[in-house]
Amino acid sequence: MILSLLLIPALGFLIFCLLLSSSSNKLYVNIKKLTPKLSPPSLGCLISFYKNRHRLLSWYTELLSESENQTIVVHRLGAPRTVVTANPDNVEYMLKTNFANFPKGKPFTELLGDFLGLGIFNVDGEMWSVQRKLASHEFSTKSLREFVVQVLRDEVAARLIPILENAAEDNGVLDMQEVLRRFAFDTICKVSLGMDPSCLDMSRPAPPLSSAFDAASELSAMRGAAPVFAVWKLKRALNVGPEKDLKDAVRTVRGCVDEMIRCKKETMAAGGGGGGGGGGDLLSRFLGAGMESEMVRDMVISFLMAGRDTTSAALTWLFWLLTWHRDAERRAVEEIGDGYGGSCGRELGFDDLKEMNFVKACLCETMRLYPPVVWDSKHAARDDVLPDGTPVFRGNRVTYFPYGMGRMEALWGKDRLRFRPDRWLDDAGAVKMVSPYKFPVFQAGPRVCLGKEMAFIQMKYVVASVLARFELVPVRPEPPVFVPQLTAYMAGGFSVRVRRRGGVM
Ligand code: HEM
Repeated sequence: MILSLLLIPALGFLIFCLLLSSSSNKLYVNIKKLTPKLSPPSLGCLISFYKNRHRLLSWYTELLSESENQTIVVHRLGAPRTVVTANPDNVEYMLKTNFANFPKGKPFTELLGDFLGLGIFNVDGEMWSVQRKLASHEFSTKSLREFVVQVLRDEVAARLIPILENAAEDNGVLDMQEVLRRFAFDTICKVSLGMDPSCLDMSRPAPPLSSAFDAASELSAMRGAAPVFAVWKLKRALNVGPEKDLKDAVRTVRGCVDEMIRCKKETMAAGGGGGGGGGGDLLSRFLGAGMESEMVRDMVISFLMAGRDTTSAALTWLFWLLTWHRDAERRAVEEIGDGYGGSCGRELGFDDLKEMNFVKACLCETMRLYPPVVWDSKHAARDDVLPDGTPVFRGNRVTYFPYGMGRMEALWGKDRLRFRPDRWLDDAGAVKMVSPYKFPVFQAGPRVCLGKEMAFIQMKYVVASVLARFELVPVRPEPPVFVPQLTAYMAGGFSVRVRRRGGVM
């Protein structure tokens, strides 16, 4: 009885919040192209927002292109005042020059906090700095690089190539996006945890870690999409609906990783498994450095999160783009053929991958047009003014927008919408240096993606292994739809038929 008396007002509030959340986007949205002259909220803005709600990426890109300083300010009920910028000077200021004033902030870390705990991806300040130092050290070691190449070699030879061989044999349809996602999850688990979830082994059911991880990421992303935060917080307090599912998924993920930590510690105590930098995977390295188990758990969960869908998203779009640009594909295949010394029988090494400039140019060009992380936000700690004169107030959200920046004429010229890998190469065929503040797909500054080099090694390895042996033929003729989520993906997957390639094999 007492419980139901308590629940009725709570449910009433929940329903009120749900009603509000379904309509708030339409109630009060004012987008100002940020010249210093600001106009009051207008009906025109509300109508435009409503009309464009299904194409926000293109709409924001258009507004930013038209804005004098490539910055707009968005007011939306239930969200802090938001400055969205595609201006490289502003991006440099927030990500480097005045880094300390633009932490991720509580509104962001709260969303992922139940899942990522105090892992590097989700903390600011001292807690971030300590983990960053330790992880940066490990990421710069030759031994980690060699370990990554070995993991890729095994996963490609034992799983990826056989799957594509079978598809070529059967002339069946394969969802390349799904194959690449599973490949990426296997790889990042082996590198981070020293454990093989065998996701790419289609004959086995998905392991609990992988399905719980998918669920936890999706449910955490749903929190971010809720226009009124009070809704998910209330559901969490009541432990109902998606919040209950999230709690269960997080319990499974943490349980699996805790168990791995326990086993790893036992092995290390018995004198095996390395540690102290000798053990290959990140878990062994962090435990070997004397870190607490709980901190290590949160840290490796952050690595799984960061390295999971990003590389597969970039690869999916690259393979699709190459089916539309067969000339670029031919040049990539020629370069890869040189790397293999004319025969796929030879194993690719780190030095071969380093040489693949044209493949790298194709990857950068792909991520310019289809960045895996379309936008990323910080929250101002104090009042500030961006280099273009835009005022920022304490608590404001400041968002840089790699998707819009990649499509900005002012930054990439008139042919900005064309896939043209050559724009990344100098006359000698080397990859040009491009400012990371103009191309912030890996973020930039002190918090630049830690896995950037690892991501390029992995993506080049996969591109080389696939293109040298196979040609992909899309099943659907129409261009696919780009869906922005925590990590962007291709709506409906990328269905292909696989043909064996003559020549370099
Ligand atoms: C194409 C592939 C990738 C892209 C485009 C990418 C992009 C990004 C971006 C935009 C961020 C900043 C996110 C934020 O602060 O909210 C980030 C952070 C991070 N990335 Fe990546 N990433 C990629 C692959 C990887 C891989 C393979 C790893 C390996 C583990 C990795 C590890 C990390 C880590 C640990 C951070 C957090 C760094 C920090 O906060 O100090 N990333 N990445």
